[in-house]
Amino acid sequence: MTDGETPRPDIPDAVVDLIRGADWITVFSGAGMSAESGIATFRDAQAGGRSQAALWDRFDPAELATPEAWDRDPALVWGWYRWRAGHVRTAQPNAGHHALADLGANRTVMVVTQNVDDLHERAGSDVISHLHGSLFAPRCSVCGTPYEGVDALPDDRPRDDSTFDPRVPPPTCRRCGGSVRPGVVWFGEALPESDWQRADQAFRASEAIIVVGTSGIVYPAAALPERAVRAGIPVIEFNPAPSALSEVATHSLRLSAAQGLPALLRALD
Ligand code: APR
Repeated sequence: MTDGETPRPDIPDAVVDLIRGADWITVFSGAGMSAESGIATFRDAQAGGRSQAALWDRFDPAELATPEAWDRDPALVWGWYRWRAGHVRTAQPNAGHHALADLGANRTVMVVTQNVDDLHERAGSDVISHLHGSLFAPRCSVCGTPYEGVDALPDDRPRDDSTFDPRVPPPTCRRCGGSVRPGVVWFGEALPESDWQRADQAFRASEAIIVVGTSGIVYPAAALPERAVRAGIPVIEFNPAPSALSEVATHSLRLSAAQGLPALLRALD
């Protein structure tokens, strides 16, 4: 217990010993990792689950994050992703992101994330795989050429003006003239092969897996920790609520990212 602050969560000795003895660790993170940075998760009712601006509340993220939505209204989809990128730019890595970066100070910690934000990177972690892409990697929807134009910069214009038209026509590729699309993986699309391969190799090479903030229901990503457990690699979950991975995890701690991960770091001292 600390003087008057919120009580510091206890990390079981078995978990501390596992992490202390591991030189190679893979972190597998989901939207809950960024919840305490003010970025809503996809399915977590208590975090509101919807976008942070009234303007976007009439749109369902699952509806916009699809190839069909892009085909139907590319300007709406492009406007939504640029707004999301602008929102991420105003967010800060939380204590959980920083704890993971510190964990990597004297051991190999590879981050495999389902998140499309850049908060792990901004905290200093080595992100080896963005399994579902990134808000900051737009590319041509025709030839795949990465796009670095200024019109792909995050959109930080205020969105509280309800007359504001969210549609922003996507830029065109300088190489082939095709429309530039967000660099994220939409429902029904394949994961980037190189990111999948790096994630697969990291899991197989690890002595322990730390899973943070994922419901564990989206495949094939969710198969990675399940397979690690079957291979005898200990999996430690940090999540304030039970997830689909809680039953298979070696240890499942009802702790949030920003509470549990700093507590783990302190316990390792
Ligand atoms: N710390 C840790 N975990 C948290 C926190 C927190 N502060 N707040 C919420 N969570 C947990 C929730 O309990 C839930 O289990 O984070 C999880 C969020 O689950 P989802 O919203 O389903 O997010 P995620 O698992 O990342 O979704 C996977 O689905 O929508 C697609 O492509 C999208 O990458 C995403 C994928």
